[in-house]
Amino acid sequence: MAEEAILGYLEHNDEIKDSGEFAAERNIDHNEIVNVIKSLYGFRYVDVEDIKRESWVLTDEGNTYAVSGSPEVQLFLAIPEEGIVKDELLKKVGSSLFKIGCAQAAKNKWLDLGKQLITRKLQHVDDKVKNLLLQIQQGQGIGSDDIKALKARKLIVPQTWKGYSVKKGPNYAPKRKQVVTDLTRDNFQSGEWKELEFKEYNYTAKGQPLEGGHLHPLLKARRYFPSQFEEMPTNNFVESSFWNFDALFQPQQHPARDSHDTFFLETPSTTNKLPEDYVQRVKQVHETGGYGSRGYAYDWKREEADKNLLRTHTTAVSSRMLYQLAQKPFTPKKYFSIDRVFRNEAVDRTHLAEFHQIEGLVCDRGLTLCDLIGVLHDFFSRMGMTKLKFKPAYNPYTEPSMEIFSYHEGFKKWVEVGNSGMFRPEMLQPMGLPDDVQVIAWGLSLERPTMILYGIDNIRDLFGHKVDLGLMKKNPICRLGIE
Ligand code: PHE
Repeated sequence: MAEEAILGYLEHNDEIKDSGEFAAERNIDHNEIVNVIKSLYGFRYVDVEDIKRESWVLTDEGNTYAVSGSPEVQLFLAIPEEGIVKDELLKKVGSSLFKIGCAQAAKNKWLDLGKQLITRKLQHVDDKVKNLLLQIQQGQGIGSDDIKALKARKLIVPQTWKGYSVKKGPNYAPKRKQVVTDLTRDNFQSGEWKELEFKEYNYTAKGQPLEGGHLHPLLKARRYFPSQFEEMPTNNFVESSFWNFDALFQPQQHPARDSHDTFFLETPSTTNKLPEDYVQRVKQVHETGGYGSRGYAYDWKREEADKNLLRTHTTAVSSRMLYQLAQKPFTPKKYFSIDRVFRNEAVDRTHLAEFHQIEGLVCDRGLTLCDLIGVLHDFFSRMGMTKLKFKPAYNPYTEPSMEIFSYHEGFKKWVEVGNSGMFRPEMLQPMGLPDDVQVIAWGLSLERPTMILYGIDNIRDLFGHKVDLGLMKKNPICRLGIE
């Protein structure tokens, strides 16, 4: 409304002489007018000149008299026709009103201050002070002697009033054009962009202050692997049961393959591509064995192997990689991966249905369990875990297998931190790897040791939508070139 009033007025008039009067005439708040003038001035719709005026405003005391009357008149009215004893009058009006009222009334010669009685000299008095205060309140001018008197009584104080005179500026238009800040696909396609007026860029505006980069503890885990380790491609969360289980010599009736532990896919529910000759060798090793094994002696079903699932461990990726490695003349390899896996588990402080695994493996001729133990010591000491213990365990795809325990100084006890083993010949040889090649491998949840190392007691602070960003910010800044 204020903007229309200003621009509209200037269309037919040269100047708004005084924004204060302009606002008062239109019953618009002056502050609103001032804000619009400033904004129009910013876009050069108008030019302005400052106006300053000294004006007077009532003090708190002035305001109370404007309502209840001046103290001298209040006192005068409290005196009855026949007069009143001083003490009684004092009691009636209170000491401060009595004091000021008496002084002023005496000055005006309204009273007789006798020894016994205080009496009025006049029948009626006008409250000039109250009227003057009301006039000032309404913004009317009053005489300079009156101003002086009220100022001396501290009933009014000066105030500088600021306003503007306003003329058309170089960009004047009777209506403000919408300036746009962004070119959108829509106004580009419609051709509207030709008509649009764009807001100018402010190249000197300050940007957001940089906070520096923060590495999530999950990313820092890469440092646990020496540089000779190659990272395996873990970018497929969806995997077939074949690579996740069958290639790992995990029998089809194994409880981990149950839907209680595994998320199976509805669409697409099955895979359509597997290396057929290798599939046949896997089927055979499950059913009747070979390579020195007796197998599991059951009917291996292709439909089971075809079922798609969300991979339950990154060992699915390891099995693909080893199969690929076996397709060429053998060269020793060190591989690692860090990525997400999925298990159909009840979520609590220490378990998530999605979490991350770190996996490492070394393939070479003539490796032994001692090599595995040595590699594990090296790996875990990089994580800050130097006290390790190993316990025999069972995995369908490794023999021997070992659970890894680390001594937790805080809890004063041994905690399980990983699982490991040497891949079985039933897994490696159907792939086509030479029979003197061994693979030592280990796997662990990334979250668990990270929680231990960072003293985090709820896994949801580390991963997922409740992740604690402060945690990353508290970690030191990452600088290139400095480890
Ligand atoms: N895949 C195993 C797990 O899910 C970890 C593991 C990896 C064990 C490699 C042995 C060898 O816990």
